[in-house]
Amino acid sequence: MSTLLVTGGAGYIGSHTTVELLNEGHRVIVLDNLCNSSQASIAAVQRLTNREIEFVEGDIRNDELLAQLFATNRIDGVVHFAGLKAVGESVSQPLRYYQNNVQGTLSLLQAMASGQCQNIVFSSSATVYGDPASVPIDEGFPTSTTNPYGQSKLIVEEILRDFHKANPSWGISILRYFNPVGAHISGQIGEDPNGIPNNLMPYIAQVAVGKRPHLRVFGNDYDTPDGTGVRDYIHVVDLARGHLKALQHIAGGNRLSIHNLGTGIGYSVLDTLQAFEVACGKTLNYEFTDRRPGDVASCYADPKLAREELDWSAEFDLAQMCEDAWRWQSNFPDGFPPTS
Ligand code: NAD
Ligand code: UFG
Repeated sequence: MSTLLVTGGAGYIGSHTTVELLNEGHRVIVLDNLCNSSQASIAAVQRLTNREIEFVEGDIRNDELLAQLFATNRIDGVVHFAGLKAVGESVSQPLRYYQNNVQGTLSLLQAMASGQCQNIVFSSSATVYGDPASVPIDEGFPTSTTNPYGQSKLIVEEILRDFHKANPSWGISILRYFNPVGAHISGQIGEDPNGIPNNLMPYIAQVAVGKRPHLRVFGNDYDTPDGTGVRDYIHVVDLARGHLKALQHIAGGNRLSIHNLGTGIGYSVLDTLQAFEVACGKTLNYEFTDRRPGDVASCYADPKLAREELDWSAEFDLAQMCEDAWRWQSNFPDGFPPTS
């Protein structure tokens, strides 16, 4: 059993990962400022696992709070999810994104160093591959970005590399997620976007539950089998389990690793819509509109390295992702209930 600090643990991926960590017997401290989540997710995870989470409401940029956390707990490792993730918002508010995602990670690393905690798993993103020259994408592909969100991920990756050169005894795992979707099979936790969802699966789920009239399919003239964008959707529980494998991989320190977490299978927007129709038993309306600026035609992983080095591969298929997303959405059409 280890004691793990999960930053951003009240959020979508963090809450699902916390379930897996608790189920494996770890002690979990969640640090989250709730800027994009609610404490209701913490309560739901506790109910699901019948385990306690030590929840600290606060910001990863609060140096005093971090110093106190590391001084009063013997923390073996950090799973670092805390960050802002809306691509469009990052274009209009770049400073906020760099402050939160880059400055926040610097504060965290500093506090870890002072607190003698030398293991960290960092949430990066397939967005660092920019517009890939070909698919599937392996970890050796060149990186580039087109927006401040993606740039903040790349900068943190570079910081971690430089930091590891200077501190080779650390264990650092960079995980590049493809498109996390779905929800815990219980239907008690899931993705709870604020306002109009930016991402495909939560948007489709809101059409299915009657909150939105139709899906707008952004472009049907891409160079893909049906002309719509192709992505590597990965069940959030598979993704969560990848973090446990990454923690094992870096447990002995002396390692910086980078792994894709994806299924290796690309599905188009229309494939995904059809799979969701099967899951919810309804026909869903859609219309084709212009391409969304910045979108790439096709993006899916070569997941071989994670299989070989982490002994991890995705188990759930698209049908399961849609079923679980639908169970969560129909249980909680308005997301987590307000907490008092
Ligand atoms: P999320 O918004 O649901 O979770 C992030 C959590 O971090 C939220 O609970 C938020 O309140 C918290 N947070 C943000 N800034 C903070 C700060 N300064 N201090 C403390 N807490 C803070 O997002 P998610 O989908 O769970 O994503 C988790 C991580 O994975 C993020 O770093 C994101 O960039 C990355 N990622 C997500 C996706 C995706 O499609 N969901 C894809 C690739 C990478
Ligand atoms: N799409 C639509 N209509 C919508 C929403 C999306 O047609 O209403 C299409 C997009 O054009 C794209 C596909 O559905 O072809 C997937 O779009 P998402 O927004 O769900 O996902 P992206 O691949 O564009 O981006 C996501 C995250 C980014 C992250 C990236 C790579 O939002 O933060 O995956 O990990 F960087």
